[in-house]
Amino acid sequence: MPPLLRVDDLRAYYFGFRGTRVVKAIDGVSFSLEAGETFGLVGESGCGKTSTCHAIVRLLPPSARIVSGRIELEGEDLLGKSQTEMRQIRGRRIATILQDPMASLDPLFSIYDQVAEPAYYHRAFRGRRLRQRVKELLSAVRIPSPERRMKDLPHQMSGGMRQRIVGAIALAGGPQVIIADEPTTNLDVTIQLQYLNLLKDLQRASGVALIFVTHNLGIVAKMCDKVGVMYAGKIVEMQSVRGLFYNPRHPYTRALLDSIPKLGTKDPLYVIPGQPPDLSRLPAGCSFQPRCQSAMERCRVEEPSEQHLDDAATTRCWLPLHEATTRG
Ligand SMILES: Nc1ncnc2c1ncn2[C@@H]1O[C@H](COP(=O)(O)OP(=O)(O)OP(=O)(O)O)[C@@H](O)[C@H]1O
Ligand SMILES: [Mg+2]
Repeated sequence: MPPLLRVDDLRAYYFGFRGTRVVKAIDGVSFSLEAGETFGLVGESGCGKTSTCHAIVRLLPPSARIVSGRIELEGEDLLGKSQTEMRQIRGRRIATILQDPMASLDPLFSIYDQVAEPAYYHRAFRGRRLRQRVKELLSAVRIPSPERRMKDLPHQMSGGMRQRIVGAIALAGGPQVIIADEPTTNLDVTIQLQYLNLLKDLQRASGVALIFVTHNLGIVAKMCDKVGVMYAGKIVEMQSVRGLFYNPRHPYTRALLDSIPKLGTKDPLYVIPGQPPDLSRLPAGCSFQPRCQSAMERCRVEEPSEQHLDDAATTRCWLPLHEATTRG
């Protein structure tokens, strides 16, 4: 049986005017996802997380092009599909919750209209059954008095409620995969936690698989089964969530973990030296080498290939951290 979703050696670049500047936003990304699983994609700003999400549902802007690789949903090739065929897949089989949830809601349509649309279009709910379905979805995302609130417009809802409405819209098409791109970035911490718990509950109830994009490692620990750490358009480490926290193998992952503020210590906060590279002018060799404390000569000339460390872990590093040297 093929995995539910498989992304294989995907490359997608943004091209500047007349091809002058090429930004390698996705540069050989591979991962797979099974039903009910949560895959976390983490990394600093600008490393290609959102581009990867957009590429999967074929919603990259016109300046971008997928140059190679494969994306398969239950073995079906998504890159060979026309945009008309993709419209049957988006919402019905793969739903997205985007980085800015406000931008996903139409200010002129009622909550009812917006939640009803995918249920009507993708799942053929009509009339009284459609109304009932919208009510169920709004209750599932814990909107109080759904019958009354569904007449409201988005601006009549609080930020946390709007976020949950976006969740209800994603669920309305009955998808197999939900891609959630930093869905909690604009929420305060208590509402953030409520929303994450809600997503987990909904996932348990529906068996949907999640791709969860964040730069917050605390959220990764809470939400994900396995994690891909992205740097400069590549997944530099892939591990189970437990492996990642207890036994990171790439120096960048280790540096990310060291940058988490710790309670009860007055030590200055660790900051990764330098900046992520400009993706249109990548350094020679490993993209992380200018910031890496253990870089050696080979790292400056030769790009590390993907190495399988054990069944579940891969890294792109010539000198992966040894189990003995990591926390454990
Ligand atoms: N429309 C575009 N045209 C050209 N370059 C773009 C475009 N959109 C994104 N990029 C570039 O592609 C790279 C990856 O961007 P992307 O938005 O995927 O990063 P990200 O990891 O989601 O960052 P963030 O954490 O800030 O959301 C960045 O270098 C960005 O400047
Ligand atoms: Mg992003």
